[in-house]
Parts: sequence; structure tokens; C-alpha cells
Amino acid sequence: MRSYLSHLECTSCGVTCSAEEPHRTCPACGKVLYARYDLPHARREVDRRAIASRPATLWRYYELMPVRHEENVVSLGEGMTPLLHARNLGKQLGCTRLYIKDEGGNPTGSFKARGMAAAVSKARELGLRKLTVPSAGNAAGALAAYCAAGGMEAHVFMPRDAPQANQQECLDAGARLTLVDGLIGDAGRLSREQAAKEGLFDLSTLQEPYRAEGKKTMGYELAEQLGWRTPDVIVYPTGGGTGIVGIWKAYQEMLALGWIDEVTTRMVAVQSDGCAPIVRALHAGAGHAEPWQDARTIAAGIRVPSAIGDYLILRAIRESGGAGVMVSDQEILAEVKAMASAEGVYPCPEGAATLAGLRRLLKEGALDPEATIVLMNTGTAYKYLDVLSPKRGRRPAGASPPPRAARAPRNVS
Ligand SMILES: Cc1ncc(COP(=O)(O)O)c(C=O)c1O
Repeated sequence: MRSYLSHLECTSCGVTCSAEEPHRTCPACGKVLYARYDLPHARREVDRRAIASRPATLWRYYELMPVRHEENVVSLGEGMTPLLHARNLGKQLGCTRLYIKDEGGNPTGSFKARGMAAAVSKARELGLRKLTVPSAGNAAGALAAYCAAGGMEAHVFMPRDAPQANQQECLDAGARLTLVDGLIGDAGRLSREQAAKEGLFDLSTLQEPYRAEGKKTMGYELAEQLGWRTPDVIVYPTGGGTGIVGIWKAYQEMLALGWIDEVTTRMVAVQSDGCAPIVRALHAGAGHAEPWQDARTIAAGIRVPSAIGDYLILRAIRESGGAGVMVSDQEILAEVKAMASAEGVYPCPEGAATLAGLRRLLKEGALDPEATIVLMNTGTAYKYLDVLSPKRGRRPAGASPPPRAARAPRNVS
């Protein structure tokens, strides 16, 4: 198979540069670089029907992935996650075509595996061997795992209050973990400083071109799973925004490839009311999002006060006729249980936020309940047990007490 990767292009000023050497952001203006493909050629030579017989990983879209030589692919089997028809929740909400794209089954338990599979593979191809990332937790876990598999060195920087599972998985996979007093932005500063000092390549969200290439495969998969149609609504828990802009990029590529005839999707960004810079900017009609002060939420992945790709996220939502919605931590916690008990899908807090957002938008009459709606559950709750349940050893709220021991029979002599 061959990749149709052609070059890199700045999403803001349009400057192009070579994809045969490492780049992070645009050399001219510092904004986000996208990988571009020779789509007219790919349109003539790649038949979407060929995809169906390929292995069930995101590498089934190899021609639209950025790795030139297959031997550089570092894969743990990521992608092609199930699209589940959420019949029970749908009944409760009056939505007949409600689906959950369950990313919890990815390697390392979250959709971050997609981005890191692509970025680590490409880094390997470009001869980079020492990588670093600031992370709310899941991206760090994914980087640690893919670097372990690829025989590369991983450095990760995460806030001290990141979920225990994320800290442990990084250490166990041999990454160098630095816990940071602060938020993701503070972790980002330290990661970049360390990169400059030690010659590491920094893979911060949208500050290199290839994590978005892995994330975009969610858009390809959704179309393939729906018979090469796009859903009417995607509800997405938005932090740095790689996923939302990646899906939007996939749609534009699929249109150019002739794999889909039209894009029908309204992109909905869900954020926490303790950190909602994108939703606030949407409501204000702004082209950029002001940094959110004093960001707080239990959904660590969407605790991103300032995103470099803010203009891309806002553009995707507006072009799609989409929306933004804020939800509270109490709603998120309630929806973890609602999704788990109705569907058997145990969502991460970020995934649960999408259900809270959907509920709100339906109540406001902002969404058509007859639409094909996809909730993106971006990870598994198993990585958040310290966040979701009370202290170790204590009975989880709602659990029954242990049965009283049967009384020992009295010895009657
Ligand atoms: C579970 C989870 N959901 C959502 C997000 C936000 O993702 P994005 O950067 O694509 O907006 C993250 C990011 O850390 C995450 O870990």
C-alpha cells in the first residue's frame, strides 16, 4: 500500500512545507499545520470498497495516513471501535437513532491511542527517537505505550491531580513522568523546556501535524460504519479539539475522494461549565477563544483553558451549523451511571459529558430527536475509578452492605 501524503500546509496563512522532515507548527506564523494528500490521484486509484476486507484497525485507511513505509507503523490494534445503537437511552430520550461510538476499547483505554499511533509512527519514520508530551493523562498513557512498542523514549508531563491510572501506566511502560503543580498549559511549558534542553520532540496537541491524522480516522470509521453516510449530529467532549477538527478534516477528504456525497453532520462541542472557552467564544460570535481563568472540572481531558486550534474548532462547528453546550460536574457524574446502567457502556467523565450535553440540547429543542445522533465516548471509566468512587476501602455510594455473617451455632452440650 502507499500513502498519498504530499506536503504540510498551514491552516491559517497557507504556507506549505515538506512532509519529509520534522515540523511542529507553521514556520511562518506559528499556527496549526495539516498533513495534505494527493486526493485527486487517490480518488482515481483507491476504491472505498477495498477497505472493507482490511484488518479492523485505523490503518485500514493507510492511503490517507501519513506513514510512507509500512514497517514504520507502530500499532497496538487501535481504531475500528464499535458504533453501538443506544436503544435504551434512546427510548428514555425519545431518540430512535442514538449511537455511542465507544472508544474505551482502544489500546490504553481511550481515543488518544489513535493520535499517538499516527504521531509515534511518523516520528519513527522521520528518525525521531525521544518524544515528550504534556497531557491531562490519557495522551501521556498512550505515548508511553506506543513508545514502548516502538522502542522509543517517552517523557510525559501531567498535572499532579491526573488520574492515578494514567500516572501508573506511564511509569509501568517505562516513560519518564513529571507531575506538575498546575494545569495542562503549565505542563506544556515544562514539556517544551525539557524538549529544548534534551533534544526531545514535543507532541503537544495540534502543535505537530500527525496526532490529528490518527484522530481523523474516527470520521472515516463513522462514515464507513453508517454505509458511507455521515451522522446528522456528533456530540464531542472538546478539550484541545484534535478530535473535532480531525473528524471535520476527514469529511473534507472523503468528499474530495468521492467516498461520501455530502456532509450532513452538525458538530456539537460539549465543555464543562468550569472550563468552557470554546462554548463561550461560540456564543460571543468570536473567531478565537479567550483563555478560561481558574479552570475546574472532574473531566480532566476537557480541562483545557486555551487551545492553539481554537479557530479550527470554531470554524468546524460553525461550518457544520453545530452548537456548543456546557454541563456541570454533577450532571457528568450522573450521566456516567445513566450510560452504564442503560447501555452497559461505562464511559469516562468526558464521554458522559456528551450525554449531559445531548439531554440539555434536546430539552432546549435545539436538536431533532429523529436525527442520527452519535455520542463520542472517548474513553473508559476504568481509568477514572479514583475520581468516580470514594476513597479506597470505603463502600462505593449505593453499594449494599455485606451480608451479616450467619451466627455461629451455639454449642449445646
Ligand atoms: C477522555 C478524553 N476525552 C476528551 C478529550 C479532549 O480531546 P480533544 O483534545 O480531542 O478535544 C481528552 C483529552 O485529553 C480525553 O482524554
